[in-house]
Amino acid sequence: MSRFAEPQDPLFRAINTSLAFDRRLWPQDLRLSRAHARMLARIGVLTDDELKQLLAGLDVVERELRAGEFPFRGDDEDIHMAIERRLTELVGAVGAKLHTARSRNDQVATDMALFVREHAQLARELIAKLMRALLERAEEHLDWPLPSYTHLQRAQPVYLSHHLLAHFWRLARDRRRFANVAELAGELPLGSGAAAGVTFANDREFLARELGFPRLAENSLDAVSSRDAVLDYLAASTICAAHLSQLGAEIVLWSSAEFGFCEPADRFASGSSLMPQKKNPDAAELLRAKSPRVARAFAGLVGVLHALPLTYNKDLQEDKEALFDAVDSLELCLRVAREQLLALRFDRERMRAAASDEFMAATDIADMLVRAGVPFREAHRRVGGLVRFAVERGVSLSQLSDEELRERLGELEPAQVRAALALEAQLESKISRGGTALARVREQLEKARAELAG
Ligand code: ARG
Repeated sequence: MSRFAEPQDPLFRAINTSLAFDRRLWPQDLRLSRAHARMLARIGVLTDDELKQLLAGLDVVERELRAGEFPFRGDDEDIHMAIERRLTELVGAVGAKLHTARSRNDQVATDMALFVREHAQLARELIAKLMRALLERAEEHLDWPLPSYTHLQRAQPVYLSHHLLAHFWRLARDRRRFANVAELAGELPLGSGAAAGVTFANDREFLARELGFPRLAENSLDAVSSRDAVLDYLAASTICAAHLSQLGAEIVLWSSAEFGFCEPADRFASGSSLMPQKKNPDAAELLRAKSPRVARAFAGLVGVLHALPLTYNKDLQEDKEALFDAVDSLELCLRVAREQLLALRFDRERMRAAASDEFMAATDIADMLVRAGVPFREAHRRVGGLVRFAVERGVSLSQLSDEELRERLGELEPAQVRAALALEAQLESKISRGGTALARVREQLEKARAELAG
């Protein structure tokens, strides 16, 4: 006899089951069960012989799962129940002892933490690979000028190496963020039971060692109801995916005929079903578009957790699809971003032409006035007037006459002004640390190599 007098309604089952998605936790769940069984033997709850039978049974279960031959049943509620049910079919009564001193509440929290720790580490590795690709491409294009933009309007010329390294550094922070994710997820929930703890002297230190957790969750109520590990992964991946979307967006923009700064490799582009001339940067577009999907997973889980009373509530089961979808999207995007970037061809001439816009020297000229004693605001106003004067006449700054220059920039020699308009002069004038002057970019490359090595 059990607690229930009637079987579950099919509709109840339909909403309650998580097997369709949580079956992918089987490697974590088996690892956990082996550790738990060993722990039970250690504290005398299982005999050595019972432990042997359980471990042998779990080996069979693993083989079946690995081979795709595990006999799932329609009434398996989730992966935890399915594995325990099958184990008991295989090894008999002793299988029913595995769940002693354990609840699905501390079990699932631990499975999820294990999963997060593994995938945070994988994210770190994939991010490092993308960072290396950015570094290599920066080294290849050390002194290729292009404009930097603000408001998508030409701002100041920079080297392509400098621009690519901008993406490198935000990924470097992402990589550190995922290290934090793994570190914070290092508190072991297992051994906390359903809510209040268990009546057995679970050796949780042993469990932590077996499962590679550096610390124990110190409060059983917190342990079974927290999904911080999942939230941390989702937050870090939301930020990382946003960075990848920025990289993707630039590749889309730069591949257009209007920019023409780069061209995706054929193997990273598609054609049009109708227009024969088309070559579309679909992969870059999807890098752009996957980012809100990851953010949605984060926002969704925050919503689930919002105002949830302690401790375990079935609401928490909704953590899984959010996490798995974000993991799959992020890992795919990181792989694609790297391959696509390595296959990208940059057009030196197109970028140089766009960078050869003398108006971008306006700040440098204002700075020259400052050095001649003019307060910056005043210099800014006067150079702005000079730009307007040239724009209204439809000429570039170097086409203005000596008189026209002297009239507005009396403190400066026209030759001095003209020299400052040269593209190389503009680039090499940005000598502040982190600026685009070649010596500074070389320093930055050094730092970037060290960051990757660290
Ligand atoms: N499938 C459940 C989940 O994902 C496992 C925990 C079930 N616990 C419970 N008390 N019903 O959260």
